[in-house]
Amino acid sequence: MRTAILTVAGALVVVIVAAAIWLGLAGRPADLSPNMLNVEGADISGPFELTTASGGRITSDALIDGPTLIYFGYTFCPDVCPIDVQKMAQATDILAEDGTELTPVFITIDPERDTPEELGEWAEAVHPDLVALTGSAEDIRAAADAYKVYYQKVEPEGSAAGYLMNHTSYFYLMTPREGLAAMFRHDITPEALASDIERVLAAL
Ligand code: NI
Repeated sequence: MRTAILTVAGALVVVIVAAAIWLGLAGRPADLSPNMLNVEGADISGPFELTTASGGRITSDALIDGPTLIYFGYTFCPDVCPIDVQKMAQATDILAEDGTELTPVFITIDPERDTPEELGEWAEAVHPDLVALTGSAEDIRAAADAYKVYYQKVEPEGSAAGYLMNHTSYFYLMTPREGLAAMFRHDITPEALASDIERVLAAL
């Protein structure tokens, strides 16, 4: 009889410990998906002030007034950026269907060519909610530095098409209260991006 009670007590302890571990992990968004980077304690993101497609100025505080997904790239990008921006647009639509509002934001790291006019037309064609931002070279450097974004001009020899930009590609999920809530690898699918965002926001 005593053995039976001890066995039951032991099993109970195991269950409680397992539940505690599971709850602990569930509370950490970084463990939710292999598409996410662990940003715990990382000093990523920060205030910025940039130029909108209509030529006005906007601060990060004014911009991030709800769940916001930020991506740094450039519209002349021949490969990765167009695909990534489409992913943001699709994820925004999937989330909207579920009643979750998300503002997709594109910040150019090529302000020389991505002027407000250029960005405005381009963004409109991508998604009606897409906010595209540019600024002076200093503005862009400051915003990119805050988000630990690397970018570098590359001029292929003998290329008539102009220069390319090497750059890092991540999606940054921002909220007004938490700041950086999650960071996603760019090779994520739009469906996974939407469901991961939903889970992260639900866990906040
Ligand atoms: Ni690119």
